[in-house]
Amino acid sequence: MTRVPLGCDKNRRLRRQDSSQYRNEVWRRHPSSHTSDFCHNAAHAAFCQGLLLPTSHLFRYTSGMIVTIDGPAGSGKSTIARELAAALGIAWLDTGATYRAMTFKALRDGVDMNNHLALTKMAREVDIRLVTDDAGRLSVMLDGEDVTREIRTKEVTDNAHFIARAQGVRDVLVDLQRRIGAEMGDFVTEGRDQGSVVFPDADVKFFLDARPSIRARRRYEQMTAAGETVDYESILSDVLKRDHLDRNRPNAPLVKPAGAVVIDTSDKTIAQVTSELLEYVEDRR
Ligand code: DC
Repeated sequence: MTRVPLGCDKNRRLRRQDSSQYRNEVWRRHPSSHTSDFCHNAAHAAFCQGLLLPTSHLFRYTSGMIVTIDGPAGSGKSTIARELAAALGIAWLDTGATYRAMTFKALRDGVDMNNHLALTKMAREVDIRLVTDDAGRLSVMLDGEDVTREIRTKEVTDNAHFIARAQGVRDVLVDLQRRIGAEMGDFVTEGRDQGSVVFPDADVKFFLDARPSIRARRRYEQMTAAGETVDYESILSDVLKRDHLDRNRPNAPLVKPAGAVVIDTSDKTIAQVTSELLEYVEDRR
C-alpha cells in the first residue's frame, strides 16, 4: 500500500480504516496493558514490533497528514516545527528530545558510550514520554521523571552523537517515534532522519538549512539571553563539529530527503519561514 496525496477523501478514509485496524490489533494483543493509549515504553514497543507489524510500515497506518522537517543544528527547525504545528492546529514531535533523553540516561547511569550492546539494552528498558500542554510546551518524561531541563545541558548536547550513531538505539527510537506519530494522527515532526528514514512517504517534507555562522550566532544569542557566559568562536566550532558528526555517521546520517523542499533560513525571520512552509502545506491540503 502506498500513501496517497492529501485532499483525497476516499483515500483519507482508507487510511483512517488502516489506523483503526492497527489500533484494534494492539488492543487485541495487549488488552490489559493498553487501556486508552499507544505504548510509549520503548521496550514494550520493541516487543510489539516483533508481535505485530514491521514498523517500517507503521507510518502507513497513521490516519492523517505528516509533515517532516529535517536539518542541521541551529537551522531553526525546532522553533519552526512548533510554530507550523500551531498554525495548522496539529501536533508536533521533537525527535531530538528522544535522543537527548537517552543520552541523559546513559550519562547518569554511567553506561559506556562506545558499548552499543549496553546502550541498546538500556534503550529497550527505558520509558520515554513526550507530553505537550495546551500552550504547546513540551515536557520530556524519563521513567516517570521530568527531565525537560536536564536534557538541554551542554554535556547532553556534546554526548548525544554517541547515542545517535548506535543503530540499536536508533531502532528503538525510530519505533517509538512511529508509534507516537500513529497516535498523533496529523503532526509536524522534526529531526535529522524524519523524511529520509522514519516517515519516508510523508505528505510534505522540508529540509531547513542556514549558514554555519548564522546558526552559531543564533545559538550564541539564545545562550547569552539565558544568562550563560559563552564564546562565539567555540560555539561556531561546536556547530561545525556537530554538522560533521550528523552528516557522516554510518546510520541515518543527516541528508536532504528525496522530494524535500529546501529552505535556507539564514536571512529570514521565524515568521517568514513559518508562513513559507505554511503555504506549501496548504497547497497540498
Ligand atoms: O535536534 P537536537 O539537537 O535536539 O538533537 C539531539 C541529538 O540527536 C543530535 O546529536 C542529533 C540527534 N538526532 C538524530 O540523530 N536524529 C534525529 N531524528 C534527531 C536528533
